[in-house]
Amino acid sequence: MSTIDNKELRVGMVGYAFMGAAHSQAWRTVNRAFDLPLRVRMAAVCGRDEAKVAEAADRLGWDGYVTDWRELIARDDIDVIDVCTPGDSHAEITIAALAAGKHVMCEKPLANNVAEAQAMVDAATAARESGIRTLCGFNYRRVPAAALMRQMIAAGRLGVIRHVRAVYLQDWITDPNFPLVWRLQQERAGSGALGDIGAHIIDLTQHITGQRITGVSALTETFVKERPIPTEMSGLAASSAADGQAYGQVTVDDAAVFTARLSGGAIATYEASRFAMGRKNGLRVEINGSLGSLVFDLERLNELEFYDATLPAAEQGFNRILVTEPEHPYLSAWWPPGHIIGYEHSFTHQARDFVQAVAEGTDPHPSFEEALGVQLVLDAVQRSAASGSTWTQVAQPQYAA
Ligand SMILES: NC(=O)c1ccc[n+]([C@@H]2O[C@H](COP(=O)([O-])OP(=O)(O)OC[C@H]3O[C@@H](n4cnc5c(N)ncnc54)[C@H](O)[C@@H]3O)[C@@H](O)[C@H]2O)c1
Repeated sequence: MSTIDNKELRVGMVGYAFMGAAHSQAWRTVNRAFDLPLRVRMAAVCGRDEAKVAEAADRLGWDGYVTDWRELIARDDIDVIDVCTPGDSHAEITIAALAAGKHVMCEKPLANNVAEAQAMVDAATAARESGIRTLCGFNYRRVPAAALMRQMIAAGRLGVIRHVRAVYLQDWITDPNFPLVWRLQQERAGSGALGDIGAHIIDLTQHITGQRITGVSALTETFVKERPIPTEMSGLAASSAADGQAYGQVTVDDAAVFTARLSGGAIATYEASRFAMGRKNGLRVEINGSLGSLVFDLERLNELEFYDATLPAAEQGFNRILVTEPEHPYLSAWWPPGHIIGYEHSFTHQARDFVQAVAEGTDPHPSFEEALGVQLVLDAVQRSAASGSTWTQVAQPQYAA
């Protein structure tokens, strides 16, 4: 196990593009916003292209850089490995890091399939014996309004949960000439809209309700089956391909919809799409219970809609709670009431809870076991869709939510 010197927690991050930038922002700000027992040192970032990673290290605030993640893991002045690469490398990097005694934060989905996710859980379980901590980056749990939703449901404000209605909608690949980036390749991404954004609403709804998805009936579709092969594989920011370029097969879903049953008796609908024209990052969760309803919309992330059916009929209606009070989750660290926060704060909150858990010697959430639970739902959705939407049971890993 690595030692934590001078109350520092020294982080090494792999990947410096979209999530790498979001995580860097979190590591940079976490000690400024929160009073923590450990001070984060952004020790080194890893990328394969030396010139680019050097520039990224400078821009994002890292002390140094390396060009091979194995080098990062071998360093004894690093305590945490933060995995911000595509899913095809999560298992290999994470398992090696845990074997080297590093704490690991790994981006979602945990892996590209159940077998890899299970191997990561096994490695995390073994490492836990030596006090090594692991977390999977389902960051939307840490949007204060979503965290408040969980608190209100746990406090019984909605009574018995009847309905869960969750969508995560984007439109960034509606153009058929958008290139075949890694997110559209099964061997690199595992699945498409399902594992990328569907995984978020699976985790979020299970977390908010405290119920697990027990069975699903699913449909998936790939609307554009071939796309231009880009000269340089990139992420969301890839530009459209030029004329005359070669085309390759899209091997993931563009959209996935499924119905589900939850362990507490609720029934649910889920929709994840990259073809919802006009929806940029439209994550919306509505929960209806016997005593009321709650609605969260990521595009209005400082608000929570609450319908309280216990009020006199004349006073009932959806109320907008502005989630900026110091009493609200994480908000006491930020600004006066009404001074809203943004997307990036969810990553700072995630870093805060991770650092706190490492310092206290407790297991942060979402654990790898919880992330395996999401992977098992993704797997059931894919199997159901492949068999004509057959009702498919979801295997349940053991964990305390
Ligand atoms: N939590 C969220 O909301 C959220 C949002 C987007 C992506 N993600 C997840 O984050 C992960 C990364 O996605 P992204 O959007 O940042 O992708 P991206 O394409 O923007 O960045 C991936 C980075 O990984 C690097 N990389 C790939 N293989 C590498 C290797 N072997 N060694 C070193 N670097 C390597 C690339 O060079 C790049 O810097 C994925 O698992 C994705 O699902 C999570």
